[in-house]
Amino acid sequence: MSRAPARGGRFAHRLIQWQRAHGRHDLPWQNTRDPYRVWLSEVMLQQTQVSTVLGYYGRFLERFPDVGSLAAASEDEVLALWSGLGYYSRARNLHRCAKTVVEEHHGRFPDSSEALVKLPGIGESTAAAIAAFCFGERVSILDGNVRRVITRWLAFEDDLSKPAAMRALWAEAQALLPGSPKAEDMMAYTQGLMDLGATVCTRNKPLCGKCPLSSDCLGLAGGDPARFPVRTRKLKRQQVRWYLLVRLATFDDARDVRVWLEKRPAKGIWASLQSVPVFEDLEALEAHVQALGEPGDEREVWPPFTHVLTHRDLYLMPHVLRLRSLPTLEGAGQWVALSALETVGLPAPIRGILQRLPEAPGQGQDLAT
Ligand code: ADE
Repeated sequence: MSRAPARGGRFAHRLIQWQRAHGRHDLPWQNTRDPYRVWLSEVMLQQTQVSTVLGYYGRFLERFPDVGSLAAASEDEVLALWSGLGYYSRARNLHRCAKTVVEEHHGRFPDSSEALVKLPGIGESTAAAIAAFCFGERVSILDGNVRRVITRWLAFEDDLSKPAAMRALWAEAQALLPGSPKAEDMMAYTQGLMDLGATVCTRNKPLCGKCPLSSDCLGLAGGDPARFPVRTRKLKRQQVRWYLLVRLATFDDARDVRVWLEKRPAKGIWASLQSVPVFEDLEALEAHVQALGEPGDEREVWPPFTHVLTHRDLYLMPHVLRLRSLPTLEGAGQWVALSALETVGLPAPIRGILQRLPEAPGQGQDLAT
């Protein structure tokens, strides 16, 4: 049973009006009903800010303009274009989903949230967003931003780390939808929830003076809207220390400097991406260098830095080893030219290290000009 049924219609009406007047209208994934484009944007926008996605979305669409071209690509190429966006399981699922759409749905996305949610990597909220934006389906999204808006407006006290509370909130979200909306209204409503969560009902200091829902927001009436959503079980952050072995070798020509890369395992941090070898302790790195290195090799230890993932802090310690002589072939990996890294799926911090090497293309030029 919904807690605020009488107020629901006014909620939707005000949100739609607000979105039309104050919401965002020119994002590159708006003004289209193509499920491929909407799906791609929604997956990219999971856990990633609009400003970051803007740098990837157009490039991805240029290379993969439709679901068929994406399905036909190799996973490595998809990961390369995703490199830097993080949460790489999204890219692997995106690729699997494209293949499923081609193989099982004749290359057309299904047109209901119920069918969309069965596809790889499409959760309930993403399915709802695609169905609302592309087909005008009357179904509510409930991503992090929207959970904030709705729990505040309802002063929803239940603990969202409990699945039952999340289900109850979903029912509330459904009850707040516009009555019998036209497709355009569902689009404005859905975008309005996202826009309000991103620009007004923000995590720390909500701009309640600018909110179209403030007059009957129970969270605001209680004096502390920012205390919602309630979530008692905090995620425990894990600290991970990794030693990185950046091995460089110069091939035929002094400008042809290459780095040794290996494919990460299919599970875990940076799954299936290319990376320099990773060691959990210094002894293991040293043993590896002993086994492969030569006495004249040059070693540089870089200052460690932290790279933050959702549930972990990676404490990264790069060791750069410049080989004196041309390496022989060894193990599962490859020597990749520093000038060819753009086409390789690398984790963002590894790309950052490789770009900072003095041998990296472009690094020396600045000094000369
Ligand atoms: N976050 C998730 N979907 C979005 C969209 N369509 N526009 C802006 N931010 C979003």
